[in-house]
Amino acid sequence: QQKPKVIIVIFGATGDLAKRKLFPSIYRLYKSGKISEDFAVVGLARRPWTNDVFRDNVENSIHDALSTDENIGTFSSHFYYHPFDVTETSSYQDLKVLLEELDGKYQTDGNRVFYLAMAPEYFGSIAQNLESYGLKESAGWSRLVIEKPFGHDLASAKELNNEIRAAFDEEQIYRIDHYLGKEMVQNIEVIRFANAIFEHLWNNQYISNVQITSSESLGVEERARYYDHSGATRDMVQNHMLQMVALLAMEPPIKLTTDEIRSEKVKVLRALRTIENEKVDKYFVRGQYDSGSINEKPVERYRDEAEELIDSNTETYVAGKVLIDNYRWSGVPFYIRTGKRMAEKSTKIVVEFKDIPMNLYFKTNREKHPNLLIIHIQPNEGVTLVLNAKKSGGSLAEPIQLAYNNYGYDGINTPEAYEKLLYDCILGDATNFTHWDEVAYSWAYIDSILKTWETTQADFPNYKSGSMGPEAADKLLEKDGFHWWPIT
Ligand code: BG6
Repeated sequence: QQKPKVIIVIFGATGDLAKRKLFPSIYRLYKSGKISEDFAVVGLARRPWTNDVFRDNVENSIHDALSTDENIGTFSSHFYYHPFDVTETSSYQDLKVLLEELDGKYQTDGNRVFYLAMAPEYFGSIAQNLESYGLKESAGWSRLVIEKPFGHDLASAKELNNEIRAAFDEEQIYRIDHYLGKEMVQNIEVIRFANAIFEHLWNNQYISNVQITSSESLGVEERARYYDHSGATRDMVQNHMLQMVALLAMEPPIKLTTDEIRSEKVKVLRALRTIENEKVDKYFVRGQYDSGSINEKPVERYRDEAEELIDSNTETYVAGKVLIDNYRWSGVPFYIRTGKRMAEKSTKIVVEFKDIPMNLYFKTNREKHPNLLIIHIQPNEGVTLVLNAKKSGGSLAEPIQLAYNNYGYDGINTPEAYEKLLYDCILGDATNFTHWDEVAYSWAYIDSILKTWETTQADFPNYKSGSMGPEAADKLLEKDGFHWWPIT
């Protein structure tokens, strides 16, 4: 197979995402020979940088991210910087000339990825300008990659989508959800659909509940402005958490094609039971972190992290009971929780199976341990199956673990999510990107929750930094006779 040839145009090339994720990902694709020598990267941003300054930045970011000091001058010579004002006609006209020149120089066949890694308020107008100034008119293909947030609610997401769709077809649009690039998130479907022992049990007859935790120990960091406007529900649930729910709950696709997989995911999102009004506080818990300590270091409360946060009513934590009203999942709660400044950084899925009908091997009913399938997404990657067995010499059952480690630790051995997604985009595979319908159903689901929260004052702060969230999140499961399984 011929290696893909492409020019990658990055809007927001002086930003954090480009530095931390995109440049190192492009480098790894180049280094592993996945993209051909015939490639170029054009970085766009307002700063008046030169190619040399840009190339130095690219090299530094790669040295930092990959902890290497090898000479990567040949690689960085493919990078070009172009000062750009997204609202200026001349910026687009000059970019067109540059792209045509680079097409010729690197023989990239007119293939272009436009990657929007910048302030979302410009997504729509950039897409339209790319179309109107003829930047998509080349001999090859053009694709648009869009970072989050894709809108602020369903209405604004629709508006944005209309603007983008006026310039690009759905097949040309790649909406990034970087969780879909994670190795073990991609493994959810394989574990489910390649194992007879799971597929037969994967329903409301045998599964009692599913728990998805994505905890972070970091606080809001430098992103107070964005985050306070967003909150944990928009930042993590609308996208990453609901995508994991969809992958866990979807029906087997007829074939492993983009359309078939996406359409099964959409069906799950369509079946989510709307939670609104007085139901919201029964099914969802919001939290905001208080001071506390992380790894024995004292940390401030959210409201003291930046001046503008002092009266903030924004949630930095959310837990919820998600219900899927379809034949397979009726009656099975999918509990989700995510938050900042929690005890540790970890993403994990626990599938809890229903109890055996009678207790023969435990002293008391309370000692009975349900079977669990744990999918470790990060930092360690793997699968654990918790079974019951008798240890030698004893006569009663105890939980034992069958564990598989994927040998990826913090992205050292596994390709970084962005690397995989960028490569998929260059190959034209949109499977692990979110279709508009998925985005729309996810927004509709969380909009009704947020609408209720916006009208009521929260009792914040309500969880200590370094804890696993507010007590109410534990009660949410206790009411149903369950508890959160530990994430360590
Ligand atoms: C991003 C959120 O989408 O995901 C961040 O905007 C969050 O707030 C991040 O920290 C978590 O991603 P990961 O890959 O570190 O789990």
